[in-house]
Amino acid sequence: MKKLIVANFKMNQQPSDVKNYFIKFVSLFTGVRADVVICPAYLDIPLAKFLTNQSPVKIGAQNVSDEEEGAFTGEVSAKMLKAQGVEYVLIGHSDRRIKFKESDKLINKKIKTALKNGLKCIVCVGETLADRNTERTYEVIRKQLDEDLRGLYENELESVIIAYEPIWAIGTGNNASVKDVENAAKVIRRAINENFSEKASRDIQVLYGGSLNEKNYAPLLSCTGIDGGLFGGLSLNVNALLNIANSIK
Ligand code: 13P
Repeated sequence: MKKLIVANFKMNQQPSDVKNYFIKFVSLFTGVRADVVICPAYLDIPLAKFLTNQSPVKIGAQNVSDEEEGAFTGEVSAKMLKAQGVEYVLIGHSDRRIKFKESDKLINKKIKTALKNGLKCIVCVGETLADRNTERTYEVIRKQLDEDLRGLYENELESVIIAYEPIWAIGTGNNASVKDVENAAKVIRRAINENFSEKASRDIQVLYGGSLNEKNYAPLLSCTGIDGGLFGGLSLNVNALLNIANSIK
């Protein structure tokens, strides 16, 4: 199975940067070794969709409203994203959990709304440095998964991807070790097994994210239980992302 590479631009890139980025990416991406999902800012989604029209590159959103429609000023609904051709959405990223105080309850509602509208959800989980230092990593991930996926039907998990992103590793240059990532993948799959089924725990795609770079991605993304990576900072460099997407094993 091909690896899944997801790029999260966060609140970076101006439209002219996005235009040049996608023109280059689309012309040089082979699509042989990896599936690629790129998540630009909401405003850049129509341009990104237009430029990836004839390419295997998929577009994701970085966020979505938990509400279907109505008086929610500033929000963007799952239906609106779907109408723009968006296929994936990041939900539960630590930027949203911490800086926007998103709770597991809200994340659960966002996932249900996104799934109902036909979007695939990339659900991010991960522990803080304090959790890690007090050996609560697995407990924290387990609680997030139990609450975030509560009430989902097993068949809906076919449209759910889990990204393990330890918060202490995001944007810090301190990536998790292969052992950390393998252990987290085991905890994630055990949670899916216990809450859904053994088959679901085997089939679900699990990604790692947090200070991935051109030197560390190969061992981290080929370790047991990991199906791909979620890239932040590195993904802003089109050549670096292309190199990984075209050469990953
Ligand atoms: P960095 O790759 O910059 O650490 O960011 C990871 C991330 O948050 C992707 O969603």
